[in-house]
Amino acid sequence: QRLIHKSSVTSTQILAHQAAQEGAPHGTIVIADEQTNGRGRLNRSWHSHKGDGIWMSIVLRPTFEPYKSPQITLLAATVLAEVFKEYCGIKPQIKWPNDILTDSKKLAGILTELQAEQDQINYIILGMGINVNHPIETFPEEIRDKASSLKIESGEEWDLSSLIREIIQTFEKRYEEFIKDGFSKVKLRWEAFGYRIGEMVPIQTYQSSWKGRIMGIESDGALRVVNEEGKEQTLYSAEIQW
Ligand code: BTN
Repeated sequence: QRLIHKSSVTSTQILAHQAAQEGAPHGTIVIADEQTNGRGRLNRSWHSHKGDGIWMSIVLRPTFEPYKSPQITLLAATVLAEVFKEYCGIKPQIKWPNDILTDSKKLAGILTELQAEQDQINYIILGMGINVNHPIETFPEEIRDKASSLKIESGEEWDLSSLIREIIQTFEKRYEEFIKDGFSKVKLRWEAFGYRIGEMVPIQTYQSSWKGRIMGIESDGALRVVNEEGKEQTLYSAEIQW
């Protein structure tokens, strides 16, 4: 079974994990019209209103080493940015590692979860949440100034199935390219969409908050930043503030 479509689930991530544990093959896609407990990064919740967006999780079974798995997240971000630009005609930007913004407002988010043993990937669940036909009122008040949808940005209502097809086709193409040629092309594409590259921005890491200039990404996907003293830093985990 390659496509599992449900009207309502707690989270497509949970369902995809279950499917993967039961042996679902590479490329299995779980889609839901509504999530009652959508999950975001950093233990946040993800607002998933019925019928307005695309909430999907893909089971991947790559044969590369686990350390490369964050690159899948960046790859997925470039795929969404590419589709939003080419298909929906808007100007997306990617806030490292993988928030898709336009005009500094969030259109989509990506959550990758890795299941690995003894230096071998068992599977990856790639979750994508896309705000498609949301009018601004459907977002909870506290995120209204930070969230947007493809409809708000483009002025058009989008057919969810066609958009899903477009995303999956583009993902397949870019994934194959990545497996064959490695991360270098993804890096170029990612940087073309990079949010606030060259600018001084507030950065939050585990231990501290500071300001840094975003230089781009490394050949492995890590964030390159220069701090206020001019020292280069490579970050594997951090949050760029709005
Ligand atoms: C983020 O930006 O914090 C990531 C959001 C990821 C949301 C998607 S929606 C489909 C999948 N199921 C979930 O519960 N989360 C991801």
